[in-house]
Amino acid sequence: MKRVIFCTFIAIAVFAIQANGQKPLPAAVNQLIIVTNHPGPVISKDIYGHFSEHLGNCIYGGIWVGTDSKIPNTNGIRNDVIAALKDIKIPNLRWPGGCFADTYHWKDGIGPQTQRASIINTNWGGVTENNSFGTHEFMKLTELIGCDAYINGNVGSGNVREMSEWIEYLTSDNKSPMTILRKQNGREDPWKVKYFAIGNENWGCGGNMTPEFYNNVMRQYSSFLNNYSGNTLYRIACGPYDYNYAWTETLMKDPDSRKMFQGISLHYYSVVDGWDVKGSATKFTEREWFESFRLNLEMDKILKGQSAIMDRYDPEKTKGLVVDEWGNWYQVEPGSNPGFLYQQNSMRDAITAAIHLNIFNQHADRVKVANLAQMVNVLQSVILTKDDKMVLTPTYYVFKMFKVHQEAQSLNIDIKCEDYQYGDKKIPAISASASIDKDGKIHLTLANLNPNKDITITCPLIGDSFSKVTGEVLTAKAINSFNDFGKPEEVKPSTFNGFKMNAGVLSITMPSKSVVALEIIK
Ligand code: AHR
Repeated sequence: MKRVIFCTFIAIAVFAIQANGQKPLPAAVNQLIIVTNHPGPVISKDIYGHFSEHLGNCIYGGIWVGTDSKIPNTNGIRNDVIAALKDIKIPNLRWPGGCFADTYHWKDGIGPQTQRASIINTNWGGVTENNSFGTHEFMKLTELIGCDAYINGNVGSGNVREMSEWIEYLTSDNKSPMTILRKQNGREDPWKVKYFAIGNENWGCGGNMTPEFYNNVMRQYSSFLNNYSGNTLYRIACGPYDYNYAWTETLMKDPDSRKMFQGISLHYYSVVDGWDVKGSATKFTEREWFESFRLNLEMDKILKGQSAIMDRYDPEKTKGLVVDEWGNWYQVEPGSNPGFLYQQNSMRDAITAAIHLNIFNQHADRVKVANLAQMVNVLQSVILTKDDKMVLTPTYYVFKMFKVHQEAQSLNIDIKCEDYQYGDKKIPAISASASIDKDGKIHLTLANLNPNKDITITCPLIGDSFSKVTGEVLTAKAINSFNDFGKPEEVKPSTFNGFKMNAGVLSITMPSKSVVALEIIK
C-alpha cells in the first residue's frame, strides 16, 4: 500500500514539475528519483554500530594494551584507536561476543587485574584469556568513545542468577551485594546499559538449541533482567541466521514471548564459494568481486523475508531487527592464527559496507540496530593494528562518509539502473540511499559496483528546490587496493566534483568501483 502511495506521489510530482514549465525529465537508463518533501522513518543511529569480541587481537592488542604499555593509552585503552572511533561517531558497541559471550562468566573479569581468573578461549584458538579486560574496562571504553553499551549475556553456559546479577552490578543505584561489590571495585555510580542480548547464536555455538527450547529459556532469562535506577534495557532475543525464518516465526508468533524482548538479532555473513573455500581478502579475481556483491545484496532479500514475518505479528513495528553481525568473511591472512580471523580489507570491502549501509537505511522502519563484524583486527574491520601502528581500512572510510545518515529521516527513492553482468549472472550496478537531516540537508550515498565502467546517473529531486551540492568519493587503482602498515594509504576519500545540478535535476558520474557521498542543500 505504502509503495502504491509512493509511486502515485512520484507520478503526480513529475506531472507537477512539467506543468510548472520545467523541461520534461529526460528518459535515462540510470535514474534515481528522490522525493525530498515526504521523509520516511528516522534512520536509527545504532544501524552504524560495531562489535568487539574476545577473539584474536580485537580486544587484546587492538583495543586494550594495559596501563603499563609504551603504546599511548588512557586507562589501558589505545589512544589512536579511541580517536579514530570517535571520528566515525560510533553509536553503540557490542561486547564480549559472539560465541565467546556464551562462555563468558563476568565475575572472572572484575576486581584487581592480577587476581583475575585465566581461562581458555575455547572458541577462538584455545588461547589463554587472562580477563584483564572486563566489565569496568569495557564500560570505560564506551565512555571514551562516547557510545552506548551493548552487552551480550551468557545463556549457553551461564545461569539466570549470573545474568541477572550482571545487570544489577552494572545499573543499580540501590544497596545490594552486587552494588557493594561494584563500589569495592572502584565504581561508585551505576552505568547506563542500552542494549542487552539474551545469548548469541543459541541455535549453534550458544547451546545448539531448537527454536522452541530457546524461546522458553529466553522467556525465563528475560524475566530476571530488571530495569534499575532509571536504566531501561532494550532486550534482544537471539534471532536467526540468514534465511532461517522458522526461528523468527517461533519467537514472534507467541504474544507472551513478544512481551519479553524489544528486538531480535539476525546474523548474515557473505562467504564467497562457501565456508570451505572463502577466498582471499586481497588476492581475488573479478568473479569473486562480483560474487561478494551478489551475496551482499542478499541482505535486502533476507530483511524483506524476516520483516514480513515480523509484520504479521507486529504490524506497528514495535520490535526491532538487530543485525548484530554482518560483513565479508575470508580466509585468514597467510601465517596468522586460523582461530584469530585476521583478514585484510580492500576496495571490495568498502563497496560491501556501502551496499549494507544503504540497505539498512532503506529498512529503517524495522532495522533498529546493526553491528559490523568486527571492529578491530577481526573479519571486516574498520581498524587494523600491529604493535604501535594503526591502519584505517577502506571500510572505515565508508563509515566516515555515511555517518551523516545517523538520526536523519530516510527519503523515498526510486532507482532504475543498468546491470553489472559477470558471466551469466547480473546484479544492479548501483546501490543508493538518501536521507534528510534536521537542518534540511539531503545526504545521498551511492556505490558503483562495476569495476570496469564509470556510470552516469540522473537524479530528479522532486519536492522542495535544492541548488548546492558538495561531495566525497572513495575509489582506488585496483579492485584489491588496500591500506597497509608503513605504506601511504591506497584507499582514502577525496573531494568529488563529478556532478552537475540543472533545474532540480542532479547528474552524477561515478567512477568505476567507487563509493560517493553527496550533501545537497537549498
Ligand atoms: O564474528 C565471529 C563469530 O561469528 C561470532 O563469534 C559468532 O557469533 C559468529 O558465528
